[in-house]
Amino acid sequence: MNNMLYNISIRELLQKYPFTLGYFEENRLDVKGFEGNTFIEYLNHFTQEEVEEWAIDREKIIKDLLEYIDKMMDFLGLEDNHNVESLTIIAGRDKDGNPEKFREININKSQIVSIVGPTGSGKSRLLADIEWAARRDTPTGRAILINGEIPDTKWRFSSNNKLVAQLSQNMNFVMDLTVEEFLKLHAQSRMVGNIDKVVQEIIKAGNNLAGEEFQLDTNITSLSGGQSRALMIADTAILSSSPIVLIDEIENAGIDRKKALELLISSDKIVLIATHDPILALMADKRIVIKNGGIDRVIETSEEEKKVLRELEKMDRIIQNMRNDLRNGLSIDNEKLTKQILVPGTNLLTY
Ligand SMILES: Nc1ncnc2c1ncn2[C@@H]1O[C@H](COP(=O)(O)OP(=O)(O)OP(=O)(O)O)[C@@H](O)[C@H]1O
Ligand SMILES: [Mg+2]
Repeated sequence: MNNMLYNISIRELLQKYPFTLGYFEENRLDVKGFEGNTFIEYLNHFTQEEVEEWAIDREKIIKDLLEYIDKMMDFLGLEDNHNVESLTIIAGRDKDGNPEKFREININKSQIVSIVGPTGSGKSRLLADIEWAARRDTPTGRAILINGEIPDTKWRFSSNNKLVAQLSQNMNFVMDLTVEEFLKLHAQSRMVGNIDKVVQEIIKAGNNLAGEEFQLDTNITSLSGGQSRALMIADTAILSSSPIVLIDEIENAGIDRKKALELLISSDKIVLIATHDPILALMADKRIVIKNGGIDRVIETSEEEKKVLRELEKMDRIIQNMRNDLRNGLSIDNEKLTKQILVPGTNLLTY
């Protein structure tokens, strides 16, 4: 919704949110004659003299207007377009053209779903179907519904009004910017209030996921694979308004996977993650099993599996510790391993 002031005309804005007229009147914003323009265009039409004479603070006006709309929508109990409560996958066919073995799969807000299956089975393909909001027009013939309905076409084509944030296997930056410039640009385009604070927050969260710290003045093209991945995850969790997050292969990035997932889930999103990693697969509420291009089964993560997950996490911590030791140039011996996996003074395994 942040970007609609750039995208839709004042006429459309008033049709969508009629109470906005009250805001214009209260703030003596005379939009007459600008109905066909966007609100941003209207704000930009003032001359420098007018801006100074009337003390027009564009940023504040934009921020206040968005807050006003938000509050009014809340107050009136209305739903905005971005309110994604559920995502539904309608069955298509596998690579041989056989129908998938389910009718539809429903995923609700704040749920994590993992996608598992052999290499080449179609995990990334399923994520792409969701990203594209497929309408039986991809190789799988699947359809995607949002809140039980075919999503608005604008979600497909608009890069601003994004339904989906995609964290893909390869992340290449082409712009010559520092981390700070990149994040500020992004924050500006999202029109957040306190840009510096948000930028700091993202850096902190990003560094919390990455091994070697990066700084505000680090050039984004010189970030390592893991660092840029960490930065993008923090950016998506904190700044992105997309209600759906798709993650492909987080485990190859050398970042703290568990923290990354926790950061993303905490922001009330639907998260789908394609993975070969048992810990990530079991952290999900349910997992979609893909075979030969088709969804073969959907399995709810059982209590038993959650218990196993806790054991796996202990083993993982041991491996992480070993990894850190090796990264830091230390040697590893059997004693070190035994110390970690045995309860002190016994021959019982801690995990
Ligand atoms: N139902 C389908 N019908 C036709 N083609 C499909 C179908 N599902 C997947 N494919 C195609 O199969 C190929 C491999 O799929 P995909 O890249 O999604 O595999 P993956 O499970 O992500 O593998 P990896 O684990 O190696 O990342 C792709 O070209 C994809 O478009
Ligand atoms: Mg893949």
